[in-house]
Order: sequence, then structure tokens, then C-alpha cells
Amino acid sequence: MARHLFTGLAMIVLILFGGLVGYHMARQKSASANLIRPLPAAATPAAATSAAWGSQLVLLGGCNDCHTTKLANGQPNMADMLAGYQPGSPMPPAIPGVVTGNPQLTAWRGPWGLTLSRNITPDKQTGIGTWTLAQFIHTMRTGVDPRGRALLPPMNYQDLGRLPDADLAAIYNYLMSVTPIHNLVHD
Ligand code: HEC
Repeated sequence: MARHLFTGLAMIVLILFGGLVGYHMARQKSASANLIRPLPAAATPAAATSAAWGSQLVLLGGCNDCHTTKLANGQPNMADMLAGYQPGSPMPPAIPGVVTGNPQLTAWRGPWGLTLSRNITPDKQTGIGTWTLAQFIHTMRTGVDPRGRALLPPMNYQDLGRLPDADLAAIYNYLMSVTPIHNLVHD
């Protein structure tokens, strides 16, 4: 009787173990299928203000999190890269005392009011294509853009503006190199 019990238990343990190994292998396989391809490293002193370094800072600074619309699965829609709120996207609900956002993460409402994320592609009419480097740095440091508009939350210029001039220049050089997208953001 005890021997049967033991054999039974041993079989259950084996089945569980086999299942775990199989599960782990399946996970490994699906994880490797989703592996993200890293960019080549660009952070050498000679490249301190290069667009390549700027592109890495833009990834790290999460600019796409707010300035790029999202696909249904929540990933940034690179067809709209950095073009800001798209007209027709849903507006965030107004709930007193609560900060809300739309599913594209390009519009927010909070105690300060409504904010739509801006087009920061180099389009000359609707983006930042006419901004000089000095204007860009001034905007990131003061939170006031060249038209005199104070930037509302959640634009985190308070943190991003602490980057050294060279890093902000790298970001600027990168932003000026991306595809300009004509998208007028009204709010
Ligand atoms: C958490 C969300 C968020 C992140 C992250 C973010 N931004 Fe913004 N940004 C905004 C919003 C929202 C606005 C619009 C603010 C307003 O209109 O009051 C804005 C405005 C701007 C503006 C002003 C554009 C104009 O026309 O006045 C610039 C420039 C800018 N962001 C650059 C960047 C860069 C570069 C990064 C990444 C390094 C970045 N932002 C990351 C939300 C964000």
C-alpha cells in the first residue's frame, strides 16, 4: 500500500516536473521570438551631440510614450512617430480630482485642465521644424515654448531640462532628423 502510494506520488512529481520544464521551454521560445534588437552603441565623446546619441536619449526619455499614438496592443504606432495627439483620437474623461488619459496616451485631463501632446517632428508648419537649437533648449529648461506657451503636465521638462546642453543638442539633432509629419494639434 505504502509502495503504491510512493509510486503514485513519484509519478505525480514527475508529471509536474515535466510540465514545468515544458512550460519553461515554451516561455523561453516565445520570449526569444520577441527579442528586441538593440541599437549600436553611440555614446562616445565624439558623438556627444550626434543624432545617434539623441535617438538613444529619446528612447530613454520615453518621448514616444506620450508623443506617439498607440496601437491597440499599447505599443507605439511608429507610423505616427512623435507627431503628438491625432485629431479624432478619443478625449480623456473628465472625472473631478482624477488624472485621466486617452487610450493613445496622447491626451490627459487633470486639475490643470486638458493637455494634448504636441507634434515634435521637424514639420515646419505643425511641428518644431522652425525651432533653433537655442529655442529648443530654452523650452526644455523653462517649460515655455517659443510662442510663449507654458507647457502643462505631464510634459516632464522639469526632469528632461536638467540634461546637459550636449544631450539636449543630441536630442534636438535627432528630432530634426526624423520624418516630418504634418499634424496640427489643437487644444
Ligand atoms: C509623460 C508624457 C511626456 C513625455 C515622457 C514627454 N513629453 Fe514632451 N510633451 C508632453 C505633452 C503633453 C506636451 C504638450 C504640453 C502642452 O501643450 O501644454 C509636450 C510638449 C513638448 C514640447 C513642446 C512642443 C511645442 O510645440 O510647444 C517639446 C519640445 C517636447 N514635449 C519634447 C519632448 C521630448 C524631447 C521628450 C523626450 C525626451 C518628451 N517631450 C517627453 C508629454 C510628454
